[in-house]
Amino acid sequence: MGHPDRVYRFSTLRRIEHGVLMVAFVVLAATGLPQKYPQSPISLALLQAMGGLETARIIHRAAAIALMLLALEHIGSVLYDLYVRRMPPSILPTREDFRNAWRALRYNLGLEGSPPRQGWFTFQEKFEYWALVWGLIIMGLTGFMLWNPITTARFLPGQWIPAAKVAHGSEALLAVLAILIWHVYHVHIRRFNRSMFTGYLSREEMEEDHPLALEAPSHPIPLDPLETRARARRFWAAYGTVAVLWLVGMVWFVSGEKTAVTTPGPIPDIARVRAYAPLTPTPVPTPSFLARATLNLGSSWEDGIGAFLEENCSFCHGPRRREGDLDLTAYEGVLKGGRSGPAVIPGAPGISPVLIWTAREDHPGRLRPSERAAIWLWIQNGAPR
Ligand code: HEC
Repeated sequence: MGHPDRVYRFSTLRRIEHGVLMVAFVVLAATGLPQKYPQSPISLALLQAMGGLETARIIHRAAAIALMLLALEHIGSVLYDLYVRRMPPSILPTREDFRNAWRALRYNLGLEGSPPRQGWFTFQEKFEYWALVWGLIIMGLTGFMLWNPITTARFLPGQWIPAAKVAHGSEALLAVLAILIWHVYHVHIRRFNRSMFTGYLSREEMEEDHPLALEAPSHPIPLDPLETRARARRFWAAYGTVAVLWLVGMVWFVSGEKTAVTTPGPIPDIARVRAYAPLTPTPVPTPSFLARATLNLGSSWEDGIGAFLEENCSFCHGPRRREGDLDLTAYEGVLKGGRSGPAVIPGAPGISPVLIWTAREDHPGRLRPSERAAIWLWIQNGAPR
């Protein structure tokens, strides 16, 4: 097999699988983590670069579909190798791997003179492979729940959906950190191991990391062509069935439900509907803790209201972004208002857009009841400067 001073390690198929996995993983992380950490400037930059949250979610799902197809392909090719080609299950952990992990720990602590001598796959590689398998199962299951919350709620209590969201995001973080720390260390920093791209590992590298594989090369088991063909037929019949079921399941997964936890449509679209024009005042909940709230925020613009709006709203309604053509960083700006007229109508908190918009489900800036109360009282008192 191969050149005498290098060892053939990864078939073309395995390298293609790795490439697809790598691209899908990076895409999933780049579109998923900004959804987990929406406040971070990096997330905002990434989302902006992708053309917004909606696009990011679509890309995220496309990459998830790619991974589901990859999983189907990989399971098939592994079973084919094991069953039809009678190859040894070299990636399965053995008792020796646990011993090797213990030895490696002792070696790293200086308690042992040499690292464990390992075979075709080291325990580090097996660990990573199975961590990936486990991670994909978790991500697939929780991803399904987030993609199809109504179907999920038919089988499981509703709390499972937010729980799935936490698990999905946390497992994602774990996976990214595992790649950045474990994978990057073992295949890039320790030594740049190119075998997943070239297919080959040099003899020296094999001697260092997989000496047992060189000492006892696994001789391919001689296969009886007739029996092999019979096994291949059985394999394709079984795998064909599984693959069809898998694909049907995927269609169900992806398109079964139109009601996935969706992002509210882009706000400008909603804003075009003038449902809350000043002439149709919307009742705003009357606050109950006016006195206490006033202590927190102050009772005039100078006294705290201005600073509060500056702190909470200027990110989108400041000189920089002016969403809705509204600048909330200056007293004049608040009175002048934005696209739907003055943001504050002194004496009339119930029809003041500042309170109406911050109560809307689709508006990102929200107020706590106590903050709402303080602003309510300020407007009620004539919105003093
Ligand atoms: C993350 C961004 C963001 C933050 C933070 C934010 N808003 Fe907004 N706001 C918007 C967007 C987007 C619109 C809709 C603009 C449009 O009409 O297209 C809007 C619209 C408004 C409007 C209506 C403007 C008009 O005249 O049409 C008001 C009033 C308003 N926001 C008040 C606030 C207040 C008060 C805060 C702070 C508590 C706040 N917003 C925080 C994004 C934000």
